Amino acid sequence: LVLILDYGSQYTHLITRRIRQLSVLSLCVSGTNSLDSIAKLNPSVVILSGGPHSVHSPGAPSFPDGFLEYAEENGVFVLGICYGMQLIVQKLGGVVDVGEKQEYGKMEIVVEGECGLYGAEAAGWHQVVWMSHGDEAVKLPEGFTVVARSLQGSVAAIENRSRRLYGLQYHPEVTHSPQGMETLRHFLLDVCGISADWKMQDVLEEEVKVIKGMVGPDEHVICALSGGVDSTVAATLVHKAIGDRLHCVFVDNGLLRYKERERVMSTFESELHLPVTCVDASEQFLNKLKGVKDPEMKRKIIGHEFICIFDEFAIELEKKLGKKPTFLVQGTLYPDVIESCPPPGSGMTHSHTIKSHHNVGGLPKDMKLKLIEPLKFLFKDEVRKLGRILNVPESFLKRHPFPGPGLAVRVLGDVTEGNALEILRQVDEIFIQSIKEAGLYDSIWQAFAVFLPVQSVGVQGDQRTHSHVVVLRAITSEDGMTADWYYFDHKFLIDVVRKICNNVRGVNRVCQDITSKPPATVEWE
Ligand code: XMP
Repeated sequence: LVLILDYGSQYTHLITRRIRQLSVLSLCVSGTNSLDSIAKLNPSVVILSGGPHSVHSPGAPSFPDGFLEYAEENGVFVLGICYGMQLIVQKLGGVVDVGEKQEYGKMEIVVEGECGLYGAEAAGWHQVVWMSHGDEAVKLPEGFTVVARSLQGSVAAIENRSRRLYGLQYHPEVTHSPQGMETLRHFLLDVCGISADWKMQDVLEEEVKVIKGMVGPDEHVICALSGGVDSTVAATLVHKAIGDRLHCVFVDNGLLRYKERERVMSTFESELHLPVTCVDASEQFLNKLKGVKDPEMKRKIIGHEFICIFDEFAIELEKKLGKKPTFLVQGTLYPDVIESCPPPGSGMTHSHTIKSHHNVGGLPKDMKLKLIEPLKFLFKDEVRKLGRILNVPESFLKRHPFPGPGLAVRVLGDVTEGNALEILRQVDEIFIQSIKEAGLYDSIWQAFAVFLPVQSVGVQGDQRTHSHVVVLRAITSEDGMTADWYYFDHKFLIDVVRKICNNVRGVNRVCQDITSKPPATVEWE
């Protein structure tokens, strides 16, 4: 295991991902964890991440006392990156100071001589790396050597081979350091002797074993399927482990896209063979949403109704089975839990009593369900890989994200007014199908249409119209936290606008949203 201690760098998740790309299991925990909890994870290598602090600032985060001694006694290799390197230098009696020249962005460094970090042949090697630091190491602790410097002369890489301590002032994990991945590979596989044998198939087998051990032979498990990648892969995995003691529910809240219920249910049933109950609660949801215009209020109502339906599902199940279900499957991913320390031991899944905040929308506390979160240590692209091994159809794995409150956040204002939802479904379907036909679906992170509760004047077939305005939004993004608008060529836009105006009654004007996030958000509400 490669353990990453996080000191708050925006790139920490990326270090974890890069190492996994080398087929080495890596986990990331808070850098201020106790020595005991670090030791329990029994890492072979510990990487200290970068961070926004200066080692001199009051309250600057650090590894626990005794950590470097623990590493030395147990043969653990330690690599500090940026702030992590400065921590090593400072703790061992070197000097870290504000650099004469602050170094941000692409810089050239040169390897000084034969060394462990870059290998015996690397002397004189020039490479471009990504620097982002104000402080720098100006005096190294005893036993350390400088193995690379920037062309400006500042220390770029250090090592103390006999104590297995290494440091990089730059960020090898970002793509702006083109040789960074090779440096990490060389360090982990050649210097630390780690085997690159972490495979998704092993994760699958391990998870199935853990779930089998966790859920007793008479126990039952429930799962709310949204039709999204995470809940679908999580449910498919649990189903593989315990078969039809898994009971899934898919709620049609009346806010789904064109033919979504039919499409999703057919995949669940015929391709994934998942036991799914489809609850048509559209009337219930839409009645509650009648006249509600405030976006937050709409979200709250939807969340609350969802809980009621899930509760009813569990009661019905109890009547049928003669016992309460005891577990709940959730498709929580690693980025959601990365701050908390993962459990020691081989199994990656763990079970604990449900908390009040979770992503099914706040289930009743008296349900007392224990959680199964089989994706808790995976990133989105890893979940997709797992899904592939589980034969989840590719079309399903590549679906764009769809928000929990569905079309309610895409019809501005009262969703029940007129035939807003129906118009939106048709416009959205034309837009998405056009994107698919043009072969653009996989290059776009998310695309959808928005219905505005305003009308404008138009002319169609020599007649004056007073019809609705719809907006098309397509974005590129890494994780939904920030986003850029997607650039369509003119012909695509001309065709799609023509198709929408010719085929959807009630629409005479189509706009495109070309705002990035920030300042906008992805969804309109
Ligand atoms: P925003 O609008 O916050 O969206 O920029 C970022 C990403 O999150 C999705 N989103 C949601 N997903 N429940 C969800 O499951 C929600 O309430 C929700 N609101 C936004 C949005 O579609 C985008 O991918």
